[in-house]
Amino acid sequence: MNTLDPIIRHGFADYKHAFKQFSDKPTPYMVTDLDKIADNCKQFKHHFPSVELHYAIKAFYTKEIIDSIDDRVDGFDVASNNELKDILSYGVAAKRIMYSNPVKSKKSIEEAFSLGVDKFAFQSMSELGKLQMNAPGSSVYLRVKIDDSHSEVPLSGKFGCEPKDVVRLLTHAKNINLNPVGITFHVGSQLLDSTAWESAVKKAGELLVKVKKAGIDVDTINLGGGLPAQYFTDDPTIDKLSPSINNALLKNDWTKYIAEPGRFIVADSSFIVSSVIGVEKRGQKNWAFLDVGLFQAFLGALRYKKFPYGPIVSDDYLREEPAKRADLVPFIITGPSCDSEDTIHYEALLPEDLSIDDRLIFPNTGAYTLVYGSSFNGFEVPPVYFLKDQKVFSRE
Ligand SMILES: Cc1ncc(COP(=O)(O)O)c(C=O)c1O
Repeated sequence: MNTLDPIIRHGFADYKHAFKQFSDKPTPYMVTDLDKIADNCKQFKHHFPSVELHYAIKAFYTKEIIDSIDDRVDGFDVASNNELKDILSYGVAAKRIMYSNPVKSKKSIEEAFSLGVDKFAFQSMSELGKLQMNAPGSSVYLRVKIDDSHSEVPLSGKFGCEPKDVVRLLTHAKNINLNPVGITFHVGSQLLDSTAWESAVKKAGELLVKVKKAGIDVDTINLGGGLPAQYFTDDPTIDKLSPSINNALLKNDWTKYIAEPGRFIVADSSFIVSSVIGVEKRGQKNWAFLDVGLFQAFLGALRYKKFPYGPIVSDDYLREEPAKRADLVPFIITGPSCDSEDTIHYEALLPEDLSIDDRLIFPNTGAYTLVYGSSFNGFEVPPVYFLKDQKVFSRE
């Protein structure tokens, strides 16, 4: 059967070390390495020196995370007033916050504006009406539909105006005394293909030129999110993707660039540890029941054809000498609730002697995991332990 060598190449040694520090904690829990998050911001700035970095906090945020990257990012992107109020309470200045959700309630806009936010995304005439009334004079960025069919998580069904409407919408924004600044797009989350970035940047540049020709003084392209995490060894790294994206950026050298990565910043900072609570052979299939499932942490896996976060590792793999490890066989992995939808993986390779109380480690689970979590059936969202300078601390 398949071996786990790719994980070792992937830097799994770090997890091994961290896992040992937490092996006495009750499961389930997540471990988040704050230094890794700060380093990912550094990597972004290094590879995209001409792009302002605004972290999209929706991917995962706590005060500890925001504190550890505050001086490494240019700003933050929020999707709701609760996100906004949280990061304001952590000490982030309102002027560094961009409200990137293109459809907001009147009340949210009014409150955000009263709290000092003056940068908003929009995608329609009706949103402009709300912004005119509730956030007069604000800077606005038009969300444009861009081809996101190459990404693992397309977003353009719900978001973005048609390119043909760009001039009309930005002209109207100016006419109602808002401050049209530029356009924003999202290539879709976990985009592995750099050519899709290149054509999105090219298209955005062409649209901005049209808008400028219509007499609107716009100069900014917000590249949104989409930068991938390396869940599997074949997924491209930032070293591989950045040269061609930067080439595309250079072609519009008169523009200012902003990006709002979420997943790339936090995905590989964290791992979730769970215990096996039941093992059964159902028909011909091996089933492992865990103390964490879809509802608490893995709802994000639903939209993927295969389990998206990369290989899962058992503590057998970490503790034993290679020669003593059991063979790996396919398992269906399901969560603890009384709902069959709770199943998260249909072909996980795990030791054939997997037993109750064995621990499973899910690497690369920092982005879009606990933030989706609910305590359905009374099973709580796992607590988080943080690592900083190799030291452990928890929020409780
Ligand atoms: C407006 C906006 N910006 C940024 C992001 C972050 O995207 P990603 O996590 O793919 O980098 C999202 C994700 O949905 C988004 O909707």
